[in-house]
Amino acid sequence: MSAITRHDEWGLVPLYYQLKRIIQEKIENEELKPGDRLPSEREIAEEYGISRMTVRQGITELVRLGLLYRKQGKGTFVAEPKIEQGMINLTSFTEDMTQRGLVPGARVIDARCVQATKKIAGFLKLGVDKRVIRIERLRLANGEPMALEISHIPYQVGPSLVDEELNSQSLYGLLEKRFGVRLASARQSVEPVLANEYEARLLGVEEGSPLLLIERITCTAAGEPVEYVKSVYRGDKYKFYVDLVRR
Ligand code: GLP
Repeated sequence: MSAITRHDEWGLVPLYYQLKRIIQEKIENEELKPGDRLPSEREIAEEYGISRMTVRQGITELVRLGLLYRKQGKGTFVAEPKIEQGMINLTSFTEDMTQRGLVPGARVIDARCVQATKKIAGFLKLGVDKRVIRIERLRLANGEPMALEISHIPYQVGPSLVDEELNSQSLYGLLEKRFGVRLASARQSVEPVLANEYEARLLGVEEGSPLLLIERITCTAAGEPVEYVKSVYRGDKYKFYVDLVRR
């Protein structure tokens, strides 16, 4: 088993960081598996001859990274691996979760027709009619919050969208099947943000936790924008990837 060395050559590797690496290696080597409970802070401190404060610091960092999670009164556990989301295919949340064997769901927080801001009207290339259907949903996988999504659809595209049952139905499914929209392509950006109090409460994370802000403009085959979405995904649950090809 790896040990904590108080004498790394330059004295540059803090003890909490060494502990973090030891735990991380155990997870990578499957000595610790998803759902396993870690020994208590006191036990770890005794085992490695370090202070409980140091143990807490190392563990907190692994919690932030999404490798561990804390359950109040129960202890610290090894998390399931993050959901790895490709960035090439234009898929819906429902499709993404179903494909992984998870049950997709949503909690509609708000759905109404509003006037688009200048920015959103620009994204959606709206003409005279600046009305958009704004749908705010908490997205769930097996009942657990994953993302908070705010979609804007031009009113003309789906005038009766607000009346639809959006807790259990896929928005893309409705657009395609009910409203005859053929979704073809999208431009999407990803950037890091920190959870504010509102997002933290809904997503069940601590305020200031890392989130991934995703913006997407989805278009039809004719290049008409039909959706502008701004969503925040839990940084402890999600990882986005692209496959690169060298030319
Ligand atoms: C993903 C996309 C969103 C899109 C949503 C539709 O989460 N990031 O841009 O609005 O899927 O999901 P569904 O069809 O499950 O409602």
